[in-house]
Amino acid sequence: MRTKVVAGNWKMNKTLPEALQLTAELLTRLENHQVKNIEVVIIPPFPYLIPVSEKIQSSVLRLGAQNCSEHPWGAYTGEVSAPMLKSVGVQYVIIGHSERRQYFGEEGTKLAQKVDAVLANQLHPIFCCGEPLIVRGDGRHFDLVKLQIEEALFHLPAEALLKTIIAYEPVWAIGTGKTATPEQAQEMHAFIREQLTLKYGAAVAQQVRILYGGSVNAGNAKALFACADVDGGLVGGASLKAGEFFEIIQAAAQ
Ligand code: 13P
Repeated sequence: MRTKVVAGNWKMNKTLPEALQLTAELLTRLENHQVKNIEVVIIPPFPYLIPVSEKIQSSVLRLGAQNCSEHPWGAYTGEVSAPMLKSVGVQYVIIGHSERRQYFGEEGTKLAQKVDAVLANQLHPIFCCGEPLIVRGDGRHFDLVKLQIEEALFHLPAEALLKTIIAYEPVWAIGTGKTATPEQAQEMHAFIREQLTLKYGAAVAQQVRILYGGSVNAGNAKALFACADVDGGLVGGASLKAGEFFEIIQAAAQ
């Protein structure tokens, strides 16, 4: 039985007071209604990691970061490394988000190195894959997702893969309000798990969590999370509202 994960990627949103207010509102809901057997992760922008981490101490909330350098230290102006994130209480790091691929040219080997950096610091990568609309239109979405996971993950030993969370985020569904149907999500998640099975065997593949991301909201979360191979969600816009994000958490906890 895989524990479901709901992770809120705040992207480049909120001021510090707003970030703290969102965290406080979420904590209040979590204190008032127990949710069981679920990992809930919030992923604020870098400057808010320390204050948010202080606020969520001794709560069920866990902390993630949106990116990290493939290097541990040194003359890389503007970068933040995995050892730094570890030292401020981060437990998860998103790697290979489509926005990093699209706007910052991240791909292939670089993403494999980032995954390694995260794992070397006992953090959990949330590795993102997913196809743009044109690729789905051409029927090449399975090939592309296969390539993305092969390039960034298939050098890992099984123990490391088990610490990794995969997020399938079709680019055409991100921030567009166009969610993949539960059938489309399940089809791709089953395909990803099949690739993991071929490489690592069923015993390992059955334990890896595969999240869906792309316009998840309070209205569609339950149907998506009910799919056999969907182990929760990576939520963007809807994670910026405590009430809606909490409803999504409840949908996963059921
Ligand atoms: P939206 O939920 O806003 O579509 O964003 C999804 C996403 O990119 C999460 O990483």
